[in-house]
Amino acid sequence: MKLVPGPASVELTNKVSSILGLRLTELEHRIFPDGESYFRYVDSVENENVVIFQSTHPPQDKHILQLCLLSSGAKDLGAKSVVVVIPYLAYAKQDRRFKEGEVVSIDVVLKILKQSGVDKILTVNIHAPWIIDRSPIPIENLDAVGTLASYILQMNLKNPMILAPGKKGEYMSATAAKVLNADYGVIRTKRNVNTGTVEIELEGIDVKDRDVVVIDDMISTGGTMVKSVSTLKSAGARRILVGCIHAIMVDDADKKILSSGADVIIATDAVPNKYAFVSIAGLLAECLRKL
Ligand code: R5P
Repeated sequence: MKLVPGPASVELTNKVSSILGLRLTELEHRIFPDGESYFRYVDSVENENVVIFQSTHPPQDKHILQLCLLSSGAKDLGAKSVVVVIPYLAYAKQDRRFKEGEVVSIDVVLKILKQSGVDKILTVNIHAPWIIDRSPIPIENLDAVGTLASYILQMNLKNPMILAPGKKGEYMSATAAKVLNADYGVIRTKRNVNTGTVEIELEGIDVKDRDVVVIDDMISTGGTMVKSVSTLKSAGARRILVGCIHAIMVDDADKKILSSGADVIIATDAVPNKYAFVSIAGLLAECLRKL
């Protein structure tokens, strides 16, 4: 197996390679003066099972194209198979036509990856799990909520309540609550498709004087989390811990969350970020070992 560090996930690939005891494939990568990416496989990938790591956080379009270049290039050079590890799979929010005439972006992205020779995708907490069934490429979706919760376990929570917003809220909070041996619930959300703003409801969940952990699969603008945290603060929560798998954090989202009353933000390294106290490298290595 050849592990290839895509430019968006070099650190994570290093961690996985140490766990697996495999040397990284040497890759030359440069950016031309006009911004185009250049790659050269220094080590041969001929007849090899190639695993390319490349998260697709911002700049998403660039990271996706780099992944296509690496995958297609590996196949041109004779790779036997190409598995791509995309810890954060971009465009999964546009998983349907919310308004007439919209492009269903995730379907297009998956078609492009298929055309680029990708045989399998390994991802983590995909935003829209329902796209897996219709994907032209097999997708294995790993769950890092338990790994995140195991880290939070050391934080000495007092009378904890685990909450998570949105459609996947129940599953995420229940998974974390099992590890943390705590109560759990769901924060109901409603997003305006035109403005992108979110309304939230606690629906009678009592958080007074409790330590609350709010878990989400991703934090992008921070809008959902800011509303959740400030509502919990007004409802009398003692400490508020924010956990997420994919810390995209656009426009100072982290600062807004902390100033709305969160005590700490804990994220994974699926996307490089300064709150990545939890690594998904072990989870990925375990899965790759089985391939
Ligand atoms: C929604 O389905 C997700 O789980 C997140 O709550 C959402 O993507 C977060 O986005 P933002 O940080 O922009 O509110």
